[in-house]
Amino acid sequence: MTIPTLTADEMLATTRAVRKRLDLQRPVERELLEECLRLAQQAPTGSNRQGWGFIVVTDPQKRLALAELYRKSWEPYSRSRVAEAAQVEQATQDRVRDSASYLAEHMHEVPVHVIPVIRGRTDAAPIVAQAGVWGSILPAAWSFMLAARARGLGTAWTTLHLRYEEESAAVLGIPFAEVMQTALIPVAHTIGTDFKPAPRAPLETIVHWEQW
Ligand SMILES: Cc1cc2nc3c(=O)[nH]c(=O)nc-3n(C[C@H](O)[C@H](O)[C@H](O)COP(=O)(O)O)c2cc1C
Repeated sequence: MTIPTLTADEMLATTRAVRKRLDLQRPVERELLEECLRLAQQAPTGSNRQGWGFIVVTDPQKRLALAELYRKSWEPYSRSRVAEAAQVEQATQDRVRDSASYLAEHMHEVPVHVIPVIRGRTDAAPIVAQAGVWGSILPAAWSFMLAARARGLGTAWTTLHLRYEEESAAVLGIPFAEVMQTALIPVAHTIGTDFKPAPRAPLETIVHWEQW
């Protein structure tokens, strides 16, 4: 189901981190996921290497195992964030924390987990190699999330389970030495399809013309 009224600009402006509005009761059709993944494959890669992969996890035991790793990482992270001086407005910070906490609690109930992976590890690699590897998977992952939004699916970029990447690799049978996980994207139909652009800093505070 494509959301008929969504223009490309609207899709770019309203693809939010969806957590509380993930429909935990409704399964996600395999065909929808495959459409999104086919579109993700159109993303660019360094040297056209295309060493990407997507692990699509629907098995409840595996989702539970991943959710437990996620929570094990989330708990100390959330405590450290409470103490941290907020750069972002307090109300926004509170809203994101509340939403992130909800996701941590319900991660195992989200019907699909998608883990974008890439061949090659960047541990201790020079910046040029890191940029090449990460830059060869993250655009595809974001394309997947945009395609999902266009089809009434919600996603959220998460990375916290990577603190336990090796354990997660063992759960999913990923050859850890050769294949690096880059994110864990929970996917579900959204409750309602209306999402708004997020407030952002004025453009002039982040854009530098001609020099820094
Ligand atoms: C690199 C990266 C890592 C993130 N990791 C997590 C995460 O582990 N858990 C989480 O709940 N959100 C995570 N987020 C989402 C952010 O916290 C933030 O909510 C989101 O980027 C913007 O939310 P918005 O769509 O409401 O503007 C991550 C986002 C990015 C880009």
